[in-house]
Amino acid sequence: MNIQIINGPNLNLLGVREKSIYGNTSFDTFLEELRKRYPAITLSYYQSNVEGEIINKLHEIGFSYDGIVMNAGAYTHTSIAIADAIAAINTPVIEVHISNVHKREEFRHKSMLAANCKGVIAGFGMDSYRLAIENFLTA
Ligand code: DQA
Repeated sequence: MNIQIINGPNLNLLGVREKSIYGNTSFDTFLEELRKRYPAITLSYYQSNVEGEIINKLHEIGFSYDGIVMNAGAYTHTSIAIADAIAAINTPVIEVHISNVHKREEFRHKSMLAANCKGVIAGFGMDSYRLAIENFLTA
């Protein structure tokens, strides 16, 4: 099974950025743990701070991979272009968030992407990514 994780803007700073919200773990450390836990899955990782690059990655892998776990960061709340890219591809996308966006500022309550995604997982810290992978594994 081929699963792609895509992280959007500022998520390269996990472990450094606003630790009280996003925790102390870098994504590289977390990814190593995930790969150990799911040795049977080919787990690819891509991060970009650039909207168009995220769209290019969706186009590149969105007709061949089994699942995409996507944390689009703040683009979640703004990007019609990423929403359209999710609608255009065949691979199902699960939207994830580390924080519970519904407990935070009102502008984080709205997702432009959610309606085009298989589902949304938010508020479980880094475990949000793993829960999405579990869904692809068991679905
Ligand atoms: C986030 C929540 C977004 O509102 C925010 O812009 C992020 C991270 C999360 O994982 O909790 O960058 O997607």
